[in-house]
Amino acid sequence: MASSSIQPAKRLNLVQEYYFSTKLKEIAEMKSRGLDVVNLGIGSPDLPPSPQTIEALHVSAQDPKNHAYQSYVGLPALRQAFADWYRTYFGADLNPVNEILPLIGSKEGIMHIAMSYLEPGTVALVPNPGYPTYRSASLLAGAEVRNYDLSEETGWLPDLKALAQTDLSAVRVMWVNYPHMPTGAKATRALYEELVAFGREHNILIANDNPYSFILNEEYLSILSVPGAKEVAVELNSLSKSHNMAGWRMGVLAGGAEILSNVLKFKSNMDSGMFLPMQEAAIQALSNPPSWYAGLNAIYRERQKAVFELLDLLDCRYDPQQTGMFVWARIPDTWESGYALSDEVLHKAHVFITPGGIFGTQGDRYIRISLCADVRVFEEAGRRIRQQALSNKQ
Ligand SMILES: Cc1ncc(COP(=O)(O)O)c(C=O)c1O
Repeated sequence: MASSSIQPAKRLNLVQEYYFSTKLKEIAEMKSRGLDVVNLGIGSPDLPPSPQTIEALHVSAQDPKNHAYQSYVGLPALRQAFADWYRTYFGADLNPVNEILPLIGSKEGIMHIAMSYLEPGTVALVPNPGYPTYRSASLLAGAEVRNYDLSEETGWLPDLKALAQTDLSAVRVMWVNYPHMPTGAKATRALYEELVAFGREHNILIANDNPYSFILNEEYLSILSVPGAKEVAVELNSLSKSHNMAGWRMGVLAGGAEILSNVLKFKSNMDSGMFLPMQEAAIQALSNPPSWYAGLNAIYRERQKAVFELLDLLDCRYDPQQTGMFVWARIPDTWESGYALSDEVLHKAHVFITPGGIFGTQGDRYIRISLCADVRVFEEAGRRIRQQALSNKQ
């Protein structure tokens, strides 16, 4: 790498290179030595979007008129499609004119919310364990990050009563994510009601990130279906997992018009809309029938069973009712940590499993396996682990 004497901004010291970015380099290095590594780490769907979605993209891209810059708030028909999807599946009423903001993936939405609502002197409440981007986006926006611990004992749900006993005066945003990644825990309607009341009482924006509702879960819940939620809560959603469109970067921010207009003030300075054929294809995807989700889940269910068998080999413990695109499991006490187990399995069996500690200290005694691979891949991973007799070893 050529060296440079130009100083980068100090804010970069607040964040580290994404764990997967570093780990993928190690895996690439192992592969360059001729080793065949089975990667059960990253949650990027390996299945395609519906044929109608791809056809809509194809047809629209043929039209010479469809390649220009697009509106900052997306096509009215796309906002309508998101609003219809929310009404049909989540029972939440959203005005497509100003309560829906299409995003280039929900990950960018996390940054936009952080930049629009956080600043030095404010605090963001972040779940531990949780998706690492809530923390990094909050820090990059200049806020202080305060973890709120989730644990297996409380079903990985936040203890709002305990939080209310702490000084919340500087808290501006609380990041929430259900169905929860990495644990696969589900919210309850009562929790969403309590969160809305909590946000209202303490003047905190509740940002719920909801990309996993359609995977191995039949009870679709949105915080926006709670009366009064739009005053204090927003919800991020995404077609990445629900429609196998992770590479398309297609997401949405839904919530009250005033909050969304503040986020748009920032976002419209960052990008210049989304490719029209992709928007038209997303409209098509959002009208996939319920059988689309059922078909997807039949495949994930079979994979989940294979992963449970793999975890049995490692003597790990897991909740068979968990939702989402991953399996979260507690490691046996004989291992020093999830990192130790992950490294041993990578170096001895050439299988990569994500250590739970990358999602926060509350994940230290856990591992996470992605369901984004064919069943045969899990069987191969099992064969290698059995061969190396890694089970229950220190
Ligand atoms: C909890 C959570 N939120 C957001 C994202 C980002 O999704 P998107 O592809 O919509 O940016 C992910 C991706 O892995 C995730 O796990």
